[in-house]
Amino acid sequence: MKVLVTGGSGFIGSHVVDKLRDKGVNVRIYDLAMPTFRSDIEYYQGSLLDLNLLGFAMSGVDAVLHLAAIADVKDVYEDPHYSESINVRGTINILEAARRARVKRIVYGSTTWVYSEAEGDKVDEKTPLHSPAHLYTATKLAGEYYCQAYNKLYGMEVTILRYGIPYGPRARDGAVIPIFVRKAFKGEPLTIAGDGAQFRKFVYVEDLAEGNVLALQSIAKNKIYNLDGKEKITIKQIAETIKKVLGNVTIEYTPPRPGDFGGKEVSSELARKDLGWEPKTSFEEGVRRYIKWYSEREARRKTDWNNLDAVLKA
Ligand SMILES: NC(=O)c1ccc[n+]([C@@H]2O[C@H](COP(=O)([O-])OP(=O)(O)OC[C@H]3O[C@@H](n4cnc5c(N)ncnc54)[C@H](O)[C@@H]3O)[C@@H](O)[C@H]2O)c1
Repeated sequence: MKVLVTGGSGFIGSHVVDKLRDKGVNVRIYDLAMPTFRSDIEYYQGSLLDLNLLGFAMSGVDAVLHLAAIADVKDVYEDPHYSESINVRGTINILEAARRARVKRIVYGSTTWVYSEAEGDKVDEKTPLHSPAHLYTATKLAGEYYCQAYNKLYGMEVTILRYGIPYGPRARDGAVIPIFVRKAFKGEPLTIAGDGAQFRKFVYVEDLAEGNVLALQSIAKNKIYNLDGKEKITIKQIAETIKKVLGNVTIEYTPPRPGDFGGKEVSSELARKDLGWEPKTSFEEGVRRYIKWYSEREARRKTDWNNLDAVLKA
């Protein structure tokens, strides 16, 4: 079996590639960016906007895990026009190239943000959705609708995965856990607005990657699954976990900001029942692994820079 992973050089996609390889699956990456985490994977450099190149990249491919996107909401806010082209047109290009190349299954990486306007505090895949307030969510939802339309019109097998907030090694520096960890390493206090009781459910990235691989099973054909974390983690707990792992970290509280989002409880029960998927990594363990990766990366960067003179003179 051969699987194409779009966005395989990115945070989540690179872990999906690792999990597929662990299971002996033949993997090809399609991404604008070079994969930097390993060099033993077949790689096509190209854009989602290049339908012809996507067609070449899909030759001989059985399934596509489509994760490439403008994934940072801030980037979407700053350049909605470009983001729309990648997330929406890019997704229809994937579907169309896959239809022409007779790819058997598309797995689409969506987000639990699609529930942000839904009624109630507890949501699952059957919860009716309302028009999203954020452009990022609108583009991801458009991608879901295109997948469903390709299924209905052309009989293409699709699986939609709605990811919770991922964390772990290779995470973007701008997310809350990386920001706190960076501050802690610099000896700066971790500041919390309000009492820090606002919660989120975070999903450890390797667990999330495992869910992507399990979603290739035949039972997942034409279904939607939430893949979210298990534990409710408050902002205060994030800071305290980092303090527990690193020691000597100061936590400071500032007045609450208006309109802080309380978060919804997203059920991943269907993924557990159908796919046998459950997040296995505790929050503390996940944070430990992130911190280990972060400190090794920083040490490597420092050593590489400090050794530059010696390397140049050699
Ligand atoms: N990170 C999150 O918080 C989160 C949460 C829910 C869902 N998601 C979804 O998961 C998927 C992966 O997110 P991520 O966090 O790994 O993002 P990421 O930014 O780390 O990875 C995205 C990858 O897409 C590639 N890419 C961007 N534009 C491209 C283009 N035009 N053509 C080809 N490749 C292109 C990038 O080079 C990058 O490697 C996205 O679809 C995102 O919407 C992310």
